[in-house]
Amino acid sequence: MKLAIGSDHAAFELKNHLAARLREAGHEVVDLGTRSPESCDYPDYARPVAETVARGEAEFGIVVCGTGIGVSIVANKVPGVRAARCLCEYDARYARLHNDANVLALGARVTGTGLAEAIVDVFLSTEFEGGRHARRVAKIEPA
Ligand code: RB5
Repeated sequence: MKLAIGSDHAAFELKNHLAARLREAGHEVVDLGTRSPESCDYPDYARPVAETVARGEAEFGIVVCGTGIGVSIVANKVPGVRAARCLCEYDARYARLHNDANVLALGARVTGTGLAEAIVDVFLSTEFEGGRHARRVAKIEPA
């Protein structure tokens, strides 16, 4: 599938690791930066990822910062985006099953590499359940 990914400096290494791993798994990954470990501002990288998903140019986005909080706040400002900061596989599973989340937010300073990989795998492989959850998700966007 086509994915967009971005991070700030705090998550530079984890973002690069996840992008490489996803490419090895056969996904098309658009890496929207950051491109170095130099200090930078997370909105500059989270917003382009969210906008890429909102335009339908990527099926899912992955945004990463130190905590995952800043990038999730930014991504959720973009209409059509439902970003979920996930700390465990359970979060990832239900973010997809019940919330139809289309952007995954991770915190490189709170989530280790192995767990981040597992969270990504669950997020990308879990289908939205629909039904009553579709009605609820439809109520999220302001009228
Ligand atoms: C950067 O130090 C840090 O504030 C950022 O990565 C993120 O955690 C913000 O929410």
